[in-house]
Amino acid sequence: MSLLVAEGISVSFGGVKAVQDVSFSINEGEVFSIVGPNGAGKTTIFNLISRIYNTTGGRLFFDGVDITRVPAHSIAHLGIARTFQNTELFDRETVLKNLLIGAHIHRTSNVLSDLFFLPGVRRQELAFRKAAEDVIDLLDLRSYRDQVIANLPYGVRKMVEIARALCLKPRLLLLDEPSSGLNPEETEDLSFWLEDIVEDLGITVAMVEHDMKLVGQASDRVLAMADGKVIALGTPAEVQTHPEVLRAYLGD
Ligand SMILES: Nc1ncnc2c1ncn2[C@@H]1O[C@H](COP(=O)(O)OP(=O)(O)OP(=O)(O)O)[C@@H](O)[C@H]1O
Ligand SMILES: [Mg+2]
Repeated sequence: MSLLVAEGISVSFGGVKAVQDVSFSINEGEVFSIVGPNGAGKTTIFNLISRIYNTTGGRLFFDGVDITRVPAHSIAHLGIARTFQNTELFDRETVLKNLLIGAHIHRTSNVLSDLFFLPGVRRQELAFRKAAEDVIDLLDLRSYRDQVIANLPYGVRKMVEIARALCLKPRLLLLDEPSSGLNPEETEDLSFWLEDIVEDLGITVAMVEHDMKLVGQASDRVLAMADGKVIALGTPAEVQTHPEVLRAYLGD
């Protein structure tokens, strides 16, 4: 069953056709990777799904619902969470605090009920805290829990960003270059974490990734793009040997 469907989506910036008539669907429970050379339009696809940009053509469906025009702030509530190509954490806050800030997107209380600290608010705070602690355990971040982000190695910060997205309890997790800046050992670990996220939490993962070893290990299917267009879609083995893909990477 398709969790996300993109039907001929397009967007241009000035004269640049960043994404042109791109169609694909992401199945529930799979790891779906998007690959392609720099400037291919990969991050833009994520920006269209998370509604940071408006499509100039085509439609997007999430779980059968047309999300082409829903506002960006509704996306997390619908069950889509993401990380960014450059980590965007609060550097002066601790790991735990960063996760709690992430969880607050789901808050349903208002200022008055907060002020009086009504029982519902307290329950919600406890639920956020429980979600954050669970994710800290899942991703083995307990020893960093109370450390300030700025003091942590880059690899740990990347994991904290994934953790923060998981605190939203998404059904679809979008990861933009999760392995960038990681060493080979950390990248290997990442492929195991991805497996846990899909299998233990039942979350569907879409990732933009340059590391072909990780793509091959972790993905069920791969979409290859060049110049804003789809050039191949299939299993990792099919895509990695596709003539158009080789041409996009190596030139004629
Ligand atoms: N907000 C924007 N304004 C203008 N041009 C943009 C904008 N966002 C993306 N582009 C352009 O759209 C094209 C696709 O960019 P995108 O960031 O999606 O590439 P990418 O495949 O993620 O590349 P990379 O591997 O380098 O991250 C590029 O030519 C880029 O310059
Ligand atoms: Mg990008």
